[in-house]
Amino acid sequence: MVRPSVLLTRRWPGVVEQKLAETYDVVLNQSDRPLTATDFREAIAKYDAVLPTVTDRISAEVLDVPKARTKILANYGVGYSHIDVGAAARHGIAITNTPDVLSECTADLAMTLMLMVARRTGDGERELRAGAWSGWRPTHLVGTKVSGKTLGIVGFGRIGQKMAQRAHHGFGMDILVVSRSPVDPAFLAQFNARQCDTLEVMLPQCDFVSLHCPGGAENRNMITSARLDLMKEDAFLINTARGEIVNETALAQALMFDTIGGAALDVFEAEPRIHPMLAQCDNLVMLPHMGSATREAREAMGFRVLDNLNDFFQGGAPRDLVA
Ligand code: DGY
Repeated sequence: MVRPSVLLTRRWPGVVEQKLAETYDVVLNQSDRPLTATDFREAIAKYDAVLPTVTDRISAEVLDVPKARTKILANYGVGYSHIDVGAAARHGIAITNTPDVLSECTADLAMTLMLMVARRTGDGERELRAGAWSGWRPTHLVGTKVSGKTLGIVGFGRIGQKMAQRAHHGFGMDILVVSRSPVDPAFLAQFNARQCDTLEVMLPQCDFVSLHCPGGAENRNMITSARLDLMKEDAFLINTARGEIVNETALAQALMFDTIGGAALDVFEAEPRIHPMLAQCDNLVMLPHMGSATREAREAMGFRVLDNLNDFFQGGAPRDLVA
């Protein structure tokens, strides 16, 4: 039997690349450079499956290839707002993602960011490395207590739930939730959480707000200057979801004029470029999109793609079919 041809658009953990090669005719991206739109169009014409990830912008134009061969885009990652889902459907191309396996690690990183920004750990490390630490004193690098405070969670899917578990059971935080659909009160009770009808109701009550909703058109610019104005002036915003959810100019202004206490971002609208105003804000912690960056999560994401491919090429419905 002819083995399906499969292109990986970036380097993946070695164990997964090897495992994929046992079943598929695999082409690796040895240089690990992101594909251009032209590369992508060539790939769609050439391979049975393309395995993209968050750094690939897969627009309708990219997918509009005469005699396309690709039948599945098996995405490495849970978010797929970089793929034009409607265009893929029109061309009969299936899309899968990798949920579950990165939820804990992403929530761990959101907790890390929350603690970093509240406790000013970035300031502390920079001072130490610059050789500028003059020693302990009662007024030095005083931050904000996290334990027992109120955390607002926007988006109560798998990662939002893991965040609630950590914040409530680990740090005794009160949890408020905004979610597209009503959450079962019995489930909310596990975290002693309350669901708010709107962001407008939730934001003024929070000491911390953590974003866990999908990106894409639906949630683009959800955090506007009007909504930032609703936050307490000492509250913190954390984003490990997608950059486009936050209006970065509005956030930079809120940080510069101290209308909120601070922010911590793992994701940015024009990754890997950082909005120049954000780069000037001191009350901001930034990380380079590391939410799922553990060996365990990254390998599990790869094996989850493999499961999806196997389901698809064996003629079944892939377990993580999103469109
Ligand atoms: C995802 O999976 O969507 C993350 O952003 C990368 O792990």
